[in-house]
Amino acid sequence: MIRIRNVFRSFGDKEVLKGVTLTVARGESALLIGRSGAGKTVFLKNVIGLLRPDSGTIRIDGVDITQLNKKQLEKVRLQFGLVFQGSALFDFLTIEENVGFFLHQHTKMSRLEIRKKVTDTLAMVGLKSIEDLHPYELSGGMRKRVAIARAIIYKPKILIYDEPTTGIDPIAVDKIVSLIDDLHKRLAITSLIVTHDLEVGLKIADHFAFLLGGKVIFEGDRNALDNTDDSRLIQFLKGSSGGPIEEMEV
Ligand SMILES: Nc1ncnc2c1ncn2[C@@H]1O[C@H](COP(=O)(O)OP(=O)(O)OP(=O)(O)O)[C@@H](O)[C@H]1O
Ligand SMILES: [Mg+2]
Repeated sequence: MIRIRNVFRSFGDKEVLKGVTLTVARGESALLIGRSGAGKTVFLKNVIGLLRPDSGTIRIDGVDITQLNKKQLEKVRLQFGLVFQGSALFDFLTIEENVGFFLHQHTKMSRLEIRKKVTDTLAMVGLKSIEDLHPYELSGGMRKRVAIARAIIYKPKILIYDEPTTGIDPIAVDKIVSLIDDLHKRLAITSLIVTHDLEVGLKIADHFAFLLGGKVIFEGDRNALDNTDDSRLIQFLKGSSGGPIEEMEV
């Protein structure tokens, strides 16, 4: 479903991605882990076409999106459901308008039909009677759920999460984790999750990749992860400050 080969991306003379290669099979739940600042968000922005790589290929369901023009790219992007780091809801819109945003923009559904669909989708993420509130009236955990509802409302083929659990309390984290897991199974889609919260990631993913120094230095299933002999990955998994990963290396 997602096939990334040798992606490079710099900002000025700062090289962030230095040859990233990653494969996510259809229906898989893949997790990309890496330190803060490693380039995980930059990587995701390349995958969804918000940033263009300097070189390399990004195939989504067989189509290399690095070769597409803006219009073609927009079409491909409709296959993605996006849950951004920090939720990225529109504060000036109601929850209904936020969650139904895509339907308002891209379909001819009536207001009433959209309202119903929004209510049903909010129920899927465990929320009710908040349609007319604004994002600033919700807790962080609720905002994450709303962001997930907005991402799944148009049944995307691929769900992308950027740090879905950052900034909420441990119980709320556990609930979001269960929700992501449940949605992945119920919707039978491909998920790509990026986080530096390893504990969370281990619960939801079946395919793992570790981004370090601008490259994916490990890729494999849970068994391969548990049995890795890569000392850098072991250090990251243990979360210890001493080891082969140098202080400046992300
Ligand atoms: N638009 C930009 N212009 C210049 N530099 C950028 C831009 N976007 C990201 N960077 C740089 O790229 C590097 C990687 O950033 P990125 O946000 O991808 O990290 P991350 O792995 O997502 O970190 P975190 O876990 O904290 O979210 C950082 O050094 C950042 O400053
Ligand atoms: Mg990030």
